[in-house]
Amino acid sequence: MKKTVNTFQKLKDNQEKIVMLTAYDYSTAQVLDEAEIDGILVGDSLAMVALGYENTYDITVDEMAIFIKAVARGAKNSFIIADMPYMSYNVSIEQGLENASKMIKAGANAIKIEGCNEYLIKFIQRCIECGIPVLGHLGLTPQLLNTIGGYKVQGKTAKNIDMIYQNAKKLEEAGAFAIVLELMPSESAEYITANLTIPTIGIGAGAGCDGQIVVTDDIMGKFTDFAPKFVKKYTNLHDIVLESVKKYSQEVKDGEFPSQKESFELTEEEKCKLEKKQNIL
Ligand code: KIV
Repeated sequence: MKKTVNTFQKLKDNQEKIVMLTAYDYSTAQVLDEAEIDGILVGDSLAMVALGYENTYDITVDEMAIFIKAVARGAKNSFIIADMPYMSYNVSIEQGLENASKMIKAGANAIKIEGCNEYLIKFIQRCIECGIPVLGHLGLTPQLLNTIGGYKVQGKTAKNIDMIYQNAKKLEEAGAFAIVLELMPSESAEYITANLTIPTIGIGAGAGCDGQIVVTDDIMGKFTDFAPKFVKKYTNLHDIVLESVKKYSQEVKDGEFPSQKESFELTEEEKCKLEKKQNIL
């Protein structure tokens, strides 16, 4: 059955964990869907993980739409959330809504935006009026990396925790259905989670959140440019793929691949005809 924003709230109310992962393509989305993952994020992390950019700034709405469409074709039941790219929702509410609607038309069920301020609160309210659910994102917000000053743990002081909490409360009041809390001490995320009605989804924010999200390529050991402390590797796809590619390469060089098993053959009759032709030549 298709998961919805209500699934997220129900899981929090029943004190069951919410499980989220990222996906950028059809076959990954299919696997996550088969594993009954609650929410799939088409994160703007794809700019770095799938496209090799240095950060998330370069991805555009139209590029995101291609990946969202692929994920939507692969995931039938998971709730699909798409990241709004950098500066695609900050210039004006009208432009933001237009871009958000492109995400929904591409197949997302909701959008995610980073940060909290008066403008964003109005933007969230307008999205909800237009039937677009919004996932908030506080703590370390990669789209604000330059003003934050790098990948730094947030919410390390009581004052800063309170500021993040106040912003979380504002997002909740504006109608966000859940909030991602990124890179903060476990106690900070636990405090914020306990004082919100809507669910929190942690990434590098400890076990006290209502749910967890990580970048799939990170936990599968496929993306190896850097490895944050909060990433647990469940397998090492990089090594597995590398090993297989080397084996394939060697077999091609040695003439072992393709074997008869992977080849197609002519019928005896056509073989004879071909041999005759060769004799004439
Ligand atoms: O872009 C992303 O993948 C994210 C995370 C929360 C994983 O924003």
